[in-house]
Amino acid sequence: MRAEKSSFWHIGVIGGSGLAAGIDLEDAQEILVSSPFGEPSGPVVTGRLGGVRFTFMARHGAGHRIPPGAVNYRANIDVLKRCGVTDLVSLSAVGSLREGLAPGQFVAVDQFIDRTTSRENSFFGPGLVAHVSLADPVCGRLSGMLAAAARRAGGDVHQDGCYVAIEGPQFSTRAESRMYQSWGADVIGMTAMPEVRLAREAELPYALLGMVTDYDCWREEEAGVEVTDVLAVLHANARTARATVAALAAGLPSVREPSPIDMALEHAFITASDARD
Ligand code: ADE
Repeated sequence: MRAEKSSFWHIGVIGGSGLAAGIDLEDAQEILVSSPFGEPSGPVVTGRLGGVRFTFMARHGAGHRIPPGAVNYRANIDVLKRCGVTDLVSLSAVGSLREGLAPGQFVAVDQFIDRTTSRENSFFGPGLVAHVSLADPVCGRLSGMLAAAARRAGGDVHQDGCYVAIEGPQFSTRAESRMYQSWGADVIGMTAMPEVRLAREAELPYALLGMVTDYDCWREEEAGVEVTDVLAVLHANARTARATVAALAAGLPSVREPSPIDMALEHAFITASDARD
């Protein structure tokens, strides 16, 4: 039986490259939570911001030691769920596949294309079969508030981005990059999948704010992606990312109304209910 969510917000924040140092929280406490799905990326840091509880996890662990394909996404989402987060925000570096999305800008992502190949992408499996809907993978309410917060924090924010998730750790070839453009993808990254899928299975409304760090490699005249350039943009943007979280805290309504995503599993199971007891 699932626990009812409270009417108070508790925002989980997963910070990608450039945000390993975390966000500024009052009364911050570091807690190592274990999970039946294995080792999470590290301890979480939980605290308050403007009266709202936030719990932060660094996706790549302390010192950025875990590559995208080796992140234990299931353990990370499970740990955040066990901490009681009601909603999940991802702040992630992305490459741009559009001229109009320039490094330094932000993109509120609302769709995904999954090109990852070797990641555990479900909490369910043999013995317990569930199929959640992913038609609308992002929570519109949370994403809207996150984008508005990023604007208040001084960010230049684009809406409605489509994110293609690649396996990595290598960046793409030019042919791949152009193919992703032709598919309608706007930004590219290595970590949103399977995070988005797992968040939905965990009944956590999810929103992703992409921080554009580079133009990937589709521009003929430019060299491919250089990590040093990516890091320079990330460091320049980290302050805006942190200010975004503070602005989100300040802008949340005092009461959290339920979201349909809180009940995403309601009609998702195929396995008979007596097998779930
Ligand atoms: N993260 C940041 N820039 C990226 C790119 N060009 N490709 C994949 N992941 C990225």
